[in-house]
Amino acid sequence: MPGRNLLRAGIRAPVARRASYHGCMTTSATHLRALLADRNVVLGPMAGITESPFRAICKRMGAGLTFTGMVSATGLHFNPDSRVSRALLTFAPEETPCGVQLFGADPAVMAEEAARIVERYGDDVALIDINMGCPVTKVVAKGEGSALMREPALAARIVSRVVSAVSVPVSVKFRSGWDAGSVNAVEFARAMEAAGAAALTVHGRTRDQFYHGRADRDVIAGVKAAVEVPVIGSGDVFSADDALGMLERTGVDAVMVARGAQGNPWIFAQARALIDAGERIAPPSAFERIDVALEHAAALVAFAGEERFARMRKHVGWYIAGVPGATHVRARVNEVSSYGGLVALLAEYRAWLESRSAEEATLGR
Ligand SMILES: Cc1cc2nc3c(=O)[nH]c(=O)nc-3n(C[C@H](O)[C@H](O)[C@H](O)COP(=O)(O)O)c2cc1C
Repeated sequence: MPGRNLLRAGIRAPVARRASYHGCMTTSATHLRALLADRNVVLGPMAGITESPFRAICKRMGAGLTFTGMVSATGLHFNPDSRVSRALLTFAPEETPCGVQLFGADPAVMAEEAARIVERYGDDVALIDINMGCPVTKVVAKGEGSALMREPALAARIVSRVVSAVSVPVSVKFRSGWDAGSVNAVEFARAMEAAGAAALTVHGRTRDQFYHGRADRDVIAGVKAAVEVPVIGSGDVFSADDALGMLERTGVDAVMVARGAQGNPWIFAQARALIDAGERIAPPSAFERIDVALEHAAALVAFAGEERFARMRKHVGWYIAGVPGATHVRARVNEVSSYGGLVALLAEYRAWLESRSAEEATLGR
């Protein structure tokens, strides 16, 4: 089974620990600031989406940093070698170093698992990011994710324990607050910085909003103004203009792209060109979209095994969104269960698109 072998191959031998950053918060923050300085458009963590194959594509297209989806510290603690844990922590050489995001509410378990990850994966790990923003009910019910925004003292203990335990920078990702009546991102940011966080990511929505409404750029700007460590702004970056707008409006050190990268890794090159040179890159053609969808599918099958092909379907739907005929093809993708099936379907789609453009050319459109 190719997937299993690759997963096994992806797990590297333990490496020697580097000197701890504990007590060197400034060094750690400086390190991250330098890392983000010329790579300030990053791929946000998305559980079930930002797996190794997709991270590698985004990195190649210009993402300055990528993150794993959130990994449960408790899950790792009790099931360190489960298939899920191993898949979440598999890295390809072309996408590292990568940010590893952990969630949990027990400071000791978080510190232990963070240390284990850094020991095991060494230089593949750019930083440990602590999730304090996940809004999902079953996560917050255990006091994890965004529930920690209501427990700043516990959140600070988690950060300081993790910082003491690892040799890489530790960052924290959180929201604007729990709900509209308790927006506390600025105080929370100060507390996380004081606890030793080397960088902060703020998603400008409350837990109550989940992904609805507009992300609040003022809260993000407020956090940036309140702390010394680098700040990454997250929320509603769906185009190069949005990325530039986030940087200009909030003054953040880097912009995070999450949903805007789904089926659209080109957003990183487009944002880079606009931010660095004021240039606009043309959007990819339908054929480029199909090519990258197939590249992604091949990599995902090699990574996870053909039996897990179903999780490629949503990606294909995103890649072809807006292309003529996409609705029909998306319905057919839902019946495809192998890479070979996808190749055949997309070859048919490509031929249809070619004949359509030839026809349009003939008609002088
Ligand atoms: C499907 C999905 C999964 C996500 N998973 C995570 C996660 O594992 N950890 C995390 O910190 N944020 C997660 N997020 C939040 C994003 O990283 C990001 O902060 C949020 O979507 C706002 O940015 P956007 O408007 O660019 O999507 C997820 C978002 C989506 C849509």
